[in-house]
Amino acid sequence: MSDILRVDGISCRFGGLLANNDISFGVEEGAIMGLIGPNGAGKSTLFSIIAGDRRPTAGRLHYAGRDVTGWRPHQAARAGVGRTFQLMRVFGSMTVAENLATAAYLRHRRRRDAQRRAEEVIAEVGLGELADAPAASLTAGWKKRLEMARAVAVEPRLLLLDEVLSGLTPAEANEAVGIVRRLNERGITVLMVEHVMEIIMPLCDRVVVLDHGEKICAGPPAEVVRDPAVIEAYLGREA
Ligand SMILES: Nc1ncnc2c1ncn2[C@@H]1O[C@H](COP(=O)(O)OP(=O)(O)OP(=O)(O)O)[C@@H](O)[C@H]1O
Ligand SMILES: [Mg+2]
Repeated sequence: MSDILRVDGISCRFGGLLANNDISFGVEEGAIMGLIGPNGAGKSTLFSIIAGDRRPTAGRLHYAGRDVTGWRPHQAARAGVGRTFQLMRVFGSMTVAENLATAAYLRHRRRRDAQRRAEEVIAEVGLGELADAPAASLTAGWKKRLEMARAVAVEPRLLLLDEVLSGLTPAEANEAVGIVRRLNERGITVLMVEHVMEIIMPLCDRVVVLDHGEKICAGPPAEVVRDPAVIEAYLGREA
């Protein structure tokens, strides 16, 4: 299979801080790939660059064989890149269904099409009973589910999930993993940031590890967790 996404020497500077430093890797179409690393490693920054929410300072981004460096969020969404935000962006006063229809408008100009897409997503991610509930009334776990649904509403070909499982109960996390698997079986490529290795290990085909803005390792999860640089990045600091 070919790469749906190629990150090629991407850097992102915030003043004196290099949040991403010359990062390169590919994401194979159809894969579930993990993006891990300690707090502040640069994971969310890289997501923002891929989804068009931020321009890289250097490097190129290729999506579906096209150079899309510096594209805008609506262009990314229309091209099939869906993303969640670590700080969720649901509209509290809108219902679950309204939130999803709003997201679906990025792909569908006609109101009826957007609403139909919202209904599909509600079924797909198991939000049925809460469709008419105001988003603000949802528990933290269901809000995370809605945030994931919002990204799915654009009918992504590439889905970027930023810690959608953190803060969930074990039962909620299990269900969410099942949803990610089902979406992937439907052909959606997934790139996910997650801290819990017990979740990453069985779910991801490959993992890229960032630390202090740099890629320090990439490979199958079982190999990555044995890599000395990765162990140092995670444990060295606390030791
Ligand atoms: N808009 C910004 N302006 C300045 N610095 C920023 C900005 N956004 C992120 N940073 C810094 O860039 C670095 C990488 O942040 P980022 O949020 O990408 O890390 P992360 O790997 O997602 O961390 P976490 O696991 O805590 O979510 C951090 O040092 C952060 O403080
Ligand atoms: Mg982050």
